[in-house]
Amino acid sequence: MYGIINQSIQDLVVKEFGEETWLKIIAKSRIDVHEFQNHQVYDDAYTYRLAGAVSEVLQTDLNTVLKMFGEFWILEISMKKYPSMMASGGLSFKEFMLNLPNFHNRVYLTYPELIAPEFKVRMDGDSMLVEYHSQRPGLTAMMEGMLHGIVKMFKEQGILIVLEAEKISSDLDHDLFRIIWEK
Ligand code: HEM
Repeated sequence: MYGIINQSIQDLVVKEFGEETWLKIIAKSRIDVHEFQNHQVYDDAYTYRLAGAVSEVLQTDLNTVLKMFGEFWILEISMKKYPSMMASGGLSFKEFMLNLPNFHNRVYLTYPELIAPEFKVRMDGDSMLVEYHSQRPGLTAMMEGMLHGIVKMFKEQGILIVLEAEKISSDLDHDLFRIIWEK
């Protein structure tokens, strides 16, 4: 993955838990890179090892770490570093989600070697179904955190995000989320 992902893990840890905690995480992860370059592609193993080390050092389960990172990615990285790209996604949560399948097309202009996820989004009566197709394993909780981040970005209330089926434990080749608007 591009270095911006690993840099953002560092930003999250330093902001929320301090520099010393980050140094512990770097030591624990035993990786040979200490400064990630935004636009350089790194083996995915760096990201997985960093996330694992965050989980160990903070004594928090990995899915909680991934969820926290997903929300941070939307609210603190995407919105602050790429405000116009985020604004072009739509004016409401619903509109942004319906446009999500095309979102990373714009990201390719900045990150041409991106291996982006694929999304399929459709209304199902009053609720919305969101398919998350990924070539990478184990990132379901990160996606869930991102969805919560998008809800918060629009400051909308009464939206529930339900993980309806997981690729790992179903016949599906993707994760499936249902978005419910509380009446
Ligand atoms: C300006 C905003 C955004 C930028 C710059 C961006 C960029 C990236 C980058 C660099 C990666 C790593 C993949 C790679 O390097 O090959 C990635 C992955 C990912 N992005 Fe985005 N992204 C943005 C917004 C979003 C939004 C709004 C979502 C909505 C849910 C999203 C969902 C994901 C997911 C789930 C992955 C994991 C990749 C996988 O499953 O293989 N991103 N994105």
